Amino acid sequence: MVIQHYLDVGQLPHFDPDLADKPPEIVLALRELIGRADGVLISCPEYARGIPGAFKNALDWLVASHEFPGKPVALFNASPRASHAQAALRLVLETMSATIVEPASITVNLLAKDMDEAGIAADPQIRQQIVSALEAFKGWIDGEAQVP
Ligand SMILES: Cc1cc2nc3c(=O)[nH]c(=O)nc-3n(C[C@H](O)[C@H](O)[C@H](O)COP(=O)(O)O)c2cc1C
Repeated sequence: MVIQHYLDVGQLPHFDPDLADKPPEIVLALRELIGRADGVLISCPEYARGIPGAFKNALDWLVASHEFPGKPVALFNASPRASHAQAALRLVLETMSATIVEPASITVNLLAKDMDEAGIAADPQIRQQIVSALEAFKGWIDGEAQVP
């Protein structure tokens, strides 16, 4: 499994529906990336009980795309307290016709733990949660499990 980290969420211009038919190059690049991906893994924080504006902006650029509808999505929530953004995210993603893969969607308790990647990978419980979710995501994408 290859996971490509998308780093340009903050570089995307403000969503403009007038440009939906002729989006900027950076948006086309995002759509192309999603088109090539077997699935999309979203780990999004909660700000003021909502989806951070920059991330919602990225989703808005994908609403009218051909690439996003039906795409398998795994939700990795890093904070058990952040329930409002997750609920809002689900609503938005369902509206965008994403397929949320439930066995691949997890809440990991990293809140205020100040752990880096190595620390997260070394924690047996968190590691197991993440590995199981990734395996479930791969299994779903490979068609081994049919029901999300
Ligand atoms: C501006 C701002 C607003 C936030 N609002 C919320 C919120 O409404 N609910 C929540 O659970 N966490 C909120 N947080 C916390 C973040 O979602 C996130 O958990 C935190 O920034 C990561 O800190 P940590 O690395 O110490 O876990 C907010 C953080 C910031 C910077």
